[in-house]
Amino acid sequence: MSQTNNPSVTIKNLESAFAGESMAHIKYRYFAKLSREMGDEATAKAFEATADQELMHAFGHLDLLYPKTKMTPAKALEIAIEGETYEYTEMYPTFRHLAVEEGHAAAVAEFDEQIAESQAHAEAFRLVLATAAKRFAALAKVEAHHANQYKAALERANALVAV
Ligand SMILES: [Fe+2]
Ligand SMILES: [Fe+2]
Repeated sequence: MSQTNNPSVTIKNLESAFAGESMAHIKYRYFAKLSREMGDEATAKAFEATADQELMHAFGHLDLLYPKTKMTPAKALEIAIEGETYEYTEMYPTFRHLAVEEGHAAAVAEFDEQIAESQAHAEAFRLVLATAAKRFAALAKVEAHHANQYKAALERANALVAV
């Protein structure tokens, strides 16, 4: 556990592990839904119980990827805005383009929906960030540190969306 080891390898592994646990969580919830719809309540319950565990495993990885000591609500909003912006400006448009080429109409429609959803999520988060920035600015005298963090995060988020 030496800090001299290349930390990027471990960060990458934590990100992969987080992705895997997150997928297991959602997949098991989906399998639970399928099982319940097919009348198998016991299997549905088993999937739900395990999905809850996977969620805790994913949280464990996030504790290391985004340590509380280095996080603020403003920073969390900024990260979320960046992720949603990537989804609707790059990821889904590329996926959509490739789905058109393959003639997969259902996927094109699904990606179109996700582009709209990601854009709406990014806008909603930006609104929360802007509102929080104003709220903290009003308390600037006692909360100068947080007010400045919100202001800086908001400026970075605005710059991101302007790209
Ligand atoms: Fe797990
Ligand atoms: Fe989203």
